[in-house]
Amino acid sequence: MLSLLILLLNLTNHAFGQNPAIKAILTNKGLQYGSHIGADWMQEKIGSVIIPDVRGGVDIGIGTVHYVLDRISVSGCDVPEPSVEFYEGVGLKAVISGLSISMSGNWHTTFGIITDGGSFDLAVFNVDVTSVVQIGSDLSGHISISSENCDARVGEASINFHGGASLIFQPFVSLFHNRIKAIIEERICPVVEEHVTDLERHLSEMQVSFKVNSALVLDVPLINSPLVDSISLGLNLKGEFYSVQSHTDPPFKAEPFNLPEDKGHMLSLGLSEFTINSASYAYFSAGLLQAQINDSMIPKTSPFRLNTTSFGPLIPQLPKLFPNMLMELQVYARDAPMFSFQADKVTLEFLGAVKAFAIQPNASRTPLFKLNVDSIFSGMIRISEEKVKGLMELSNFTLTLASSEVGTFQTAALENFMKLGMKISVLAKLNAKLEEGIVLPTMHHIHLVNPVLKIQQGFVSIASDLDVKSGERESISEGIYPYRL
Ligand SMILES: *[C@@H]1O[C@H](CO)[C@@H](O)[C@H](O)[C@H]1NC(C)=O
Ligand SMILES: *[C@@H]1O[C@H](CO)[C@@H](O)[C@H](O)[C@H]1NC(C)=O
Ligand SMILES: *[C@@H]1O[C@H](CO)[C@@H](O)[C@H](O)[C@H]1NC(C)=O
Ligand SMILES: *[C@@H]1O[C@H](CO)[C@@H](O)[C@H](O)[C@H]1NC(C)=O
Repeated sequence: MLSLLILLLNLTNHAFGQNPAIKAILTNKGLQYGSHIGADWMQEKIGSVIIPDVRGGVDIGIGTVHYVLDRISVSGCDVPEPSVEFYEGVGLKAVISGLSISMSGNWHTTFGIITDGGSFDLAVFNVDVTSVVQIGSDLSGHISISSENCDARVGEASINFHGGASLIFQPFVSLFHNRIKAIIEERICPVVEEHVTDLERHLSEMQVSFKVNSALVLDVPLINSPLVDSISLGLNLKGEFYSVQSHTDPPFKAEPFNLPEDKGHMLSLGLSEFTINSASYAYFSAGLLQAQINDSMIPKTSPFRLNTTSFGPLIPQLPKLFPNMLMELQVYARDAPMFSFQADKVTLEFLGAVKAFAIQPNASRTPLFKLNVDSIFSGMIRISEEKVKGLMELSNFTLTLASSEVGTFQTAALENFMKLGMKISVLAKLNAKLEEGIVLPTMHHIHLVNPVLKIQQGFVSIASDLDVKSGERESISEGIYPYRL
């Protein structure tokens, strides 16, 4: 009872107060593709499976023949396509019907002081295996998997012994035949369960936090157990970017959203505003959203220079107070830029500031004025090369004088001028960043095929097929050799 209470407390603690910012839904189409890959993988694996020695005794009436079957190896196998389905509330149910495996090895018998030995060929046909695995999550947010139920039936087994001259050996052969089916039957599920345990170990070692670039980390642990219904499996992930340096949470939370399932694609992914905004906050809090602009960054062909002479028509007193001096602009975000998603449209609100300085002949900077520059960008995002990319335009721009060391001045002309500057510097930089793209949290060897991206209220959905690229796949299917007595 106490342990149940502790478990419940842990579970609620684990999921408390947080909405998933990334959701994923695996559809039946995705499951079928996965099971197809699984069958290929099994076909490969069975050939290299290490089969433990079989030991036992058979009572032949006048005593017990002790036997050992060793050095058993798989000489061929035929793995039919498994039927895999979602098992509501539990996980997955896989059924393989008509599996055949042929093996060979050595046998040894001992009856009192009489020993004998030789080789054998063994084939099992029409093996049916049903396995139900439970899918859940562990406390650090990994998917977990455990064997819920396993059942194995061997339709037919035949064994052919070679060698063996002793008379004692002959009655053993027929008695052993009656037992071979049961011996194999009871060994299949432990092997299946061992593989499930193996898979669970791999899953528990999987990363749930990824370094995206030198500034960003993306955390994607599960925030609650996977949801399995009869047609899909849903994952709710944290989906929060952090600054590599500070690793602090942003001062806003993920809002709930409903990711529609797209049966035509293997996988649906939902990425909320929160995910993108947490990245934006991480850049902001790491002090990366600032830039210095000086004259050498203005194209040589521009008649306007970043100096007090050029600013004369905009701020008449400036060249009088600071004659013909180069200037420097510090541009920075006043707050984390916030993205919002509406149908087919992304909006980005950027509250920025510009501090202007005159560069004295002795290189010291004299502050001139500070402007608040608030911009609203809007645009589209798309998906390409497994990254979210985009193109934004400037839809609103307002400039206000926040403070001035050179006295007040009219901002209308400066606003138009800065708007142009914003387009050719900040917007160009933003678009360059968006063109570079934000890497989607896909895993090694898994690639998106024909992804469809839709911007919806509060989130972006991506429906996609998958392509799993593995290394060279060696085919070990050597056919089945029917060994009959
Ligand atoms: C302008 O900025 C660039 C890059 O920050 C810097 O390399 C250069 O020295 C600066 N030029 C002047 C005149 O301050
Ligand atoms: C300032 O810009 C003007 C053009 O507006 C140019 O003629 C002048 O040489 C520049 N002065 C400096 C110090 O760069
Ligand atoms: C640089 O020149 C300015 C203006 O002449 C002066 O106010 C300032 O003290 C000087 N700074 C240094 C470090 O010499
Ligand atoms: C955008 O700019 C227009 C005028 O150019 C203004 O009327 C409107 O309120 C601004 N919108 C926002 C959201 O600031």
